[in-house]
Amino acid sequence: MSAHVHPVPEWADSASMDAERYAQAYEAAKTDPDGYWREQAGRLDWITPFTSVKDTSFDEADFRINWFADGQLNVAANCIDRHLETRADQVAILWEGDAPGTDRRITYRELHEQVCRLANALKGLGVAKGDRVTIYLPMIPEAAFAMLACARIGAIHSIVFGGFSPESLANRIVDCDSRIVITADGGCRGGKAVPLKANVDAALDHDGVTVDHVVVVRHSGVDVTMKDGRDQWYGDLVDAAATDCAPVAVGAEDPLFILYTSGSTGKPKGVLHSSGGYLLWASYTHQHVFDYRDGEIFWCAADVGWVTGHSYVVYGALANGATTLMYEGVPNYPDFSRFWQIVDKYQVATFYAAPTALRALMREGDEWVKKTDRSSLRVLGSVGEPINPEAWEWYHKVVGEGRCPIVDTWWQTETGGHMIAPIPGAVALKPGSATLPLPGVLPQIVDAEGKVLDGAVEGNLVIADSWPGQMRTVWGDHDRFFQTYFTTYPGKYFTGDGCRRDEDGYYWITGRVDDVINVSGHRMGTAEVESALVAHAKVAEAAVVGMPHDVKGQGIYAFVTLNAGVEEDEALRAELVQWVRREIGPIATPDALQFAPGLPKTRSGKIMRRILRKIAENQVDALGDTSTLADPAVVDHLVANRIEPG
Ligand code: WT7
Repeated sequence: MSAHVHPVPEWADSASMDAERYAQAYEAAKTDPDGYWREQAGRLDWITPFTSVKDTSFDEADFRINWFADGQLNVAANCIDRHLETRADQVAILWEGDAPGTDRRITYRELHEQVCRLANALKGLGVAKGDRVTIYLPMIPEAAFAMLACARIGAIHSIVFGGFSPESLANRIVDCDSRIVITADGGCRGGKAVPLKANVDAALDHDGVTVDHVVVVRHSGVDVTMKDGRDQWYGDLVDAAATDCAPVAVGAEDPLFILYTSGSTGKPKGVLHSSGGYLLWASYTHQHVFDYRDGEIFWCAADVGWVTGHSYVVYGALANGATTLMYEGVPNYPDFSRFWQIVDKYQVATFYAAPTALRALMREGDEWVKKTDRSSLRVLGSVGEPINPEAWEWYHKVVGEGRCPIVDTWWQTETGGHMIAPIPGAVALKPGSATLPLPGVLPQIVDAEGKVLDGAVEGNLVIADSWPGQMRTVWGDHDRFFQTYFTTYPGKYFTGDGCRRDEDGYYWITGRVDDVINVSGHRMGTAEVESALVAHAKVAEAAVVGMPHDVKGQGIYAFVTLNAGVEEDEALRAELVQWVRREIGPIATPDALQFAPGLPKTRSGKIMRRILRKIAENQVDALGDTSTLADPAVVDHLVANRIEPG
């Protein structure tokens, strides 16, 4: 594919890096990581300066990841206090509610007060350094207050996306043994109520949950039951708390947060991020990849329940003293112009969203976009999944009127921040390519045996050496961390993604090569959906695969074998779809569910997903060799009864 190359923007000469500075920075970070990152770490305020910079090894014998290990800092102080001298009255958080016309503005001074009050309130509830605090909130400023209040006292936050079910919430609370949950009465999305507090109540009934305190933000106004001695109103707590709270010094390697993400096997992993290296990476990438300029309005449309919201709604943006916009609602409410109306309302310079949202808006036609102004936009970003060239061109031509570079940012929950992404002003764009690695990122493409491939090739994407924003461990299971990421290709971090590198050295992510699927830019483990299905009393076995989906990128296709004697019918099919939705959350809802009297298995009993994927994709002529199956006839039955995803 010879892709059309879009040149760097007009304002490139004033951008944070030009082609030459990018090349120099890349070389410096590669040949002298200690020197490069020692200097870059100066963008943070340190309480105790570090002497050691990079101390890492991906080899089993001396596996370790330490950055700035003897330094101490406070993340909240870096995101708030140090800005007070120059920007106390600048808006830190612009909040736009679900309903048009509802908004709030929080200055850095107010942010300081809110965070201090909540930090004091948390201390009053017994939360200490290293304790885990679960946050289950909608996209409201209190979510940022809660994150920063934890950071201020050295507690570790674990945000659970508000779309997850009580069951998913309970599992995450138990896994990190969190004794406190911060939630809201309810959220509002697209005019619909999200029953957050009721979900927390249900989650707290699960076995093994030992939560002492639930702090409830009054937000949607729905009636909730408050349990005496356990539940308290957020407003009452912070009103009673003192307005000043000294930030504690934490080690650079001390944890800042846990964020659960799906893997190819087992239950979701608690990805643990550090304080120093993570904040540096979030701040550095926010600055350079978005070419962030002082005074600009920055809008990352992701929920804080995902890593994108952590790194760019909150930590990167606030560390850089930006005005960050937080939007509670959805792209299509009350109509398909909402995003662009918000851009105009606040004069947003940078807009950052997932391709799935763009595709959904694109198919509604250009008028919804064109009737807005959008002249404030300067940089547009894409994240979470490959952006197809058609959506890329629409974003570029219609939304950005050909004026704004599209920064297609490849990264993962595990990487903390952007890894492969164009620095606007430095790197020419190709629609559909995340382009080139950032300074400090050493990508390699390897074949199945781990041989490093040079030049224009396709294979699996690994990262050859550590970078400051890398996750440090899986909460409670360091061995799983090592096994998951460092054993497939010993000595290298394996991303789980396939990738092509073209003749210009540009990287093109081709999607996951493991049993992880990407639904609307969100990661879902097929094993998780399968285990939800088999938890149903009528299900004997299930196999779940991804399939192409016009809007979501990938959809979920489930093959289900029922217990002997159970009748297949439409009512049961609908019930099972709803069951998964309830067990995990709406994002896991299967797009197709096919009853399968038998699944294609090898003689040793392994399910051949390759065949199921082809059936789901409706590529039934390309099933490949089925002769090694224990019972080749099951395939014919599955092909004949394929479901057209609805
Ligand atoms: C997986 C990570 C990145 C934060 C949000 C998702 C896919 C992510 C891109 C991109 C192609 C992408 C990869 C990756 N992905 N960004 N720009 N182009 N694919 O984080 O839930 O941890 O998922 O999302 O497959 O491995 P995540």
